[in-house]
Formats: sequence, structure tokens, C-alpha cells
Amino acid sequence: MYYGVFMDNFALLKEDSFEESLSEILQLNQKNEKHTILLVDDEVNNLQLLRRTLRHDYNIITASNGKEALEIVEGKGDEIALIVSDQKMPEMEGTEFLKRVAGEYPDIVKILLTGHLDVDAIVDSINDCHLYQYIVKPFDPEELKMTIDSGIRKFDLVNNKTVILKDLRELFYKTIKLIASALDAKDPYTHGHSLRVTMYSLILAKNLNLDDTTLEEIETAGLLHDIGKIGIPQKILCKPDKLTDEEYELMKSHPARAEKMLMGIKKLTVVSNWLRCHHERWDGKGYPYGLKGEEIPISGRIIALADTYDAMTSTRSYRKALSHETAIEEIKKCAGTQFDPVLAELFIKCSDEIKAAKEDPETYYPKYSYLQKQIYETK
Ligand SMILES: [Fe+2]
Repeated sequence: MYYGVFMDNFALLKEDSFEESLSEILQLNQKNEKHTILLVDDEVNNLQLLRRTLRHDYNIITASNGKEALEIVEGKGDEIALIVSDQKMPEMEGTEFLKRVAGEYPDIVKILLTGHLDVDAIVDSINDCHLYQYIVKPFDPEELKMTIDSGIRKFDLVNNKTVILKDLRELFYKTIKLIASALDAKDPYTHGHSLRVTMYSLILAKNLNLDDTTLEEIETAGLLHDIGKIGIPQKILCKPDKLTDEEYELMKSHPARAEKMLMGIKKLTVVSNWLRCHHERWDGKGYPYGLKGEEIPISGRIIALADTYDAMTSTRSYRKALSHETAIEEIKKCAGTQFDPVLAELFIKCSDEIKAAKEDPETYYPKYSYLQKQIYETK
């Protein structure tokens, strides 16, 4: 039952469910709320014609020059889906106005109205303005309307994609965090363990200047590193006495179990491979495969260090926590045998930062979390 709940959560991340969720969200977002269109033209008759053509299907805002239109965009840019601007206007040409809008609001669809003579110049400036289309005057209102409708469909597609990606990221992040805390809750002595291991791993990864994709994968791997323990009975996980040989073998199976659980999820293929390696040792005496040195993926070596440091500095059912200083001494001693010597040296170098993070994970975790930044700091 316990296992089943987790697997239901993971099913959310699998391909079929992703497609279903995607189409559901798309349908929801396409419920017809009127989009807002900004029309910019110094000729009153043109504005009136455009307004008549579009007002039935869209909310219309008008401006009679680029300057006035820029002020509107500054105040209502987030509401505007599409702009139709004339090219020849006093004070500011249409291309100049649209270029300025493109910097701040790249997703607003931009259409330019132009006379025959302007076409060459317009084509040159299409890239600067991120122009969706230009329409040569005099225009047929119905054709213009069709172009606008298709521009709005493009806006919806881009906008929905951004929202969906953000929603999925949030769902993914919250799900793995939930699994991590549920895992830690299986043993009262490991409260907050997965989060701290992730935090220390991210400190090392950032100091190694690893790229964003690797940071994301390390964070995911850190949070899920002990997921293979789900199948291990609580009485073994929390046993205060020495484990029997049989129990120890079962405990040692958790990295391989973790790999097996995640390998069917495309997004987590790399991560599942790393989880398998977080109890390997630099000297080849680890488990499950006895990998040696750089045969162990770097993230496996990072998580191994972070995991051991956290285990040493936390009270467990069978012993009291060691001090930060004693744990650092231990890491020094084991550099080159249990741990990658270069990473161990880096860990020692970052030890003040790690100690501060250990004492206040709630403040420090968001500082290092790549996944949180992706969700909460992107527009
Ligand atoms: Fe582990």
C-alpha cells in the first residue's frame, strides 16, 4: 500500500499521463476568455475600421502614436496578447515602437501595417521587432482578421506551453520532495536527511561550476537517493542493534532497488543510474557493483560524501551524532579510499558553508535549490 501510493505519484511523471495532463490543461486554458489587442495608428479612420472588424471577438485598446502606445504597454503589457501597429506615424515609427515592446514582452504577437513603399525596410527589421506578420495597406478587413486570429492562436500556444511547463516542474518538484520527506519519516532519526544531503551536494556541485542540467539532476538524485529503502521493513531501518548478515544484505540492495524503480521514467534515466552508485567507494570496496574511481559518476561520488557527512553528524538509533569537526576529520582520513580525494578536499574547503547550511536548512536550501529557482523565479 505504502509502495503503491508512491508509484501512483510517479505515474504522474510517465509519458502517457504527461500527454493526458497536457491536453487537459490545454483545453482548460483555451476556454474562451477574450484576448486583448492593442491597435496603434495615427489615422482615425483606420483605427475605426480595425476596431469594427475586431471588437466582436477581442477586447480592444487603441493608441494614436508610438509614445502613447508604449505607455499603455508599460501599464498593461501582461494583459496584451497582440499588437497591430501602423508603420508611418509621427514621433515614432511602427518598427521602432515594436522593437521596444519586443525587448520587454517577447511573447506579445506583433503585426505591422505598412504602405507598398516601406516593404523592403520592413523586411529588414522583421527580426529586430520579432514581427509575426506585416500587412500591406490597403488591407482587406477579413484577411486581416484571419491573420490576427492565427496570431492569437500562436500566442495561446506559446503562453500555454510556458504555463504548462511551469506547472509540470512544480508538480515534479513537490512530488519528489514529498517522497523525500515520507522516506525520512520512516525513521525518526533521519528527519530532514534527504533535504540536507541534497543541500550539501548542491554546495559541492555549485563550487564545481557544473551546468544547470547537472544541477537539476543532482538535486533530484539527492532528494530521491534513498528511495530504494521504500521496500525495506521499518524494523530493519530503525534497528538499534547490529544488523544480521541477511538484514545487511537487504539494506545494501536499496541503491539497485532505486535504479529499478526509476529506470522506466524517461526524465529520470540519468538520475536512476546515479542513485545506483551512491554507496560505491573510490577504492572499489563499495556496493552494489564495486565500481572504482572515475567509473563512479561524479554525482554518485558527490552524494556519497554528502550522505556520509550527514549520517555522521546525525544521531541514529545505534549511536550519537559526531560533531561537525570530527566528521570533517573523518572525511580527511577517508579521502582517496572511501571518497574521491578531489571532492573530499573541496568538501573540506566548503566546510564553513556546509556547517551553516546544516544549522539552518530552511534558509539555506532555497539558496542552493535549482528546482525552486526554476519554479518561483521565472516569469
Ligand atoms: Fe543510501
